[in-house]
Amino acid sequence: MTSGEPNVTSASDGKTAEGNGALDGEVLLDVQDLKKYFPVHGGVLGRSVAQVRAVDGVSFRLRRGETLGLVGESGCGKSTTGRTILRLIEPTGGRVLFEGQDLEGFDRAQFIAFRRSAQIVFQDPYGSLNPRMTVGSMLAEILKVHGLAETRVDRLARVRELLEMVGLHAEHAGRYPHEFSGGQRQRIGIARALAVEPKFIVLDEPVSALDVSVQAQVINLLRDLQNELGLTYLFIAHDLAVVEYMSDRVAVMYLGKIVEMAAAQELYRNPLHPYTSALLSAAPRRDPKTAPNRQRIRLSGDVPSPIRPPAGCPFYARCPHPGKDEECQRALPVLEEKEPGHLAACCKHSMAVGGA
Ligand SMILES: Nc1ncnc2c1ncn2[C@@H]1O[C@H](COP(=O)(O)OP(=O)(O)OP(=O)(O)O)[C@@H](O)[C@H]1O
Ligand SMILES: [Mg+2]
Repeated sequence: MTSGEPNVTSASDGKTAEGNGALDGEVLLDVQDLKKYFPVHGGVLGRSVAQVRAVDGVSFRLRRGETLGLVGESGCGKSTTGRTILRLIEPTGGRVLFEGQDLEGFDRAQFIAFRRSAQIVFQDPYGSLNPRMTVGSMLAEILKVHGLAETRVDRLARVRELLEMVGLHAEHAGRYPHEFSGGQRQRIGIARALAVEPKFIVLDEPVSALDVSVQAQVINLLRDLQNELGLTYLFIAHDLAVVEYMSDRVAVMYLGKIVEMAAAQELYRNPLHPYTSALLSAAPRRDPKTAPNRQRIRLSGDVPSPIRPPAGCPFYARCPHPGKDEECQRALPVLEEKEPGHLAACCKHSMAVGGA
């Protein structure tokens, strides 16, 4: 992948006075205290005996044309956050406002419109592509269902256009999913999302399953499409270098909560939460100028159970900060603005951990 600046607006000027680090511009998505608790069933009767707090009070705003990267270890709640926002999963609590309107109050027509406006691209599109349908028929069907192309001729033209938009060819319309490579299948997954002319797309690890050389192509395609179509992305990923390249801002999740959020360059240059420092120290450096030579921080201990999260800081048991104390163990740190546009949930943020 080539280096470059985030596309829509420069990450470094993405600071506003309102304190959530969002870029200036119209708020497209406003997520407020979102919660998703999954029941855990047990016993012979299979009753709900506990709850997994997969998403536990997540709040952020996304402006039109912006990309928010969402990172964190496996199981911290990234996919559940994305799917709950899209209402593929019902939330346990909180509010989601899309274009200023609360999803909760949507009537059927508004909800159908939201379903069109907000799409998802999965890590492995193969699982969700019908193996017995050609790519052209699959896309044409979507257009038909949503009333987006009146006649068969219109649909064929739009299918061709969609395939070309994602770097495939019109002739690919007659092929079946198994006839494509992994990268091509992901392009089909993107074409499927674009077919309904969305405004917002959750990209859930869209390149994690692809070869590194193919990853760069798909990432660049996603960025080009964002520029051309004014799309807004929630970009979920493991690879911190890819997230930095793609995102205007980045949110770091730990045990169902956002523990740090800032403009991408600011977060990478100046992490304030010890967990972010640890994640960055373990990641390969993309650009030595913006990523200082970090001493590797090895985290010991396990992530606490999302069924019984600790009362105080969820990161306490693994925190390598030399200044951690009883206060950390007692009180849950609030995600608050520590520096302009830079939020962190750590009361020891000002002391560097394993820095340059
Ligand atoms: N349908 C479900 N029922 C019960 N628990 C679930 C369900 N889906 C997710 N979970 C749990 O919720 C937590 C968050 O899962 P999620 O898939 O959102 O994490 P993630 O950050 O996307 O992980 P990964 O990086 O592995 O994709 C995990 O503890 C997971 O086991
Ligand atoms: Mg996931």
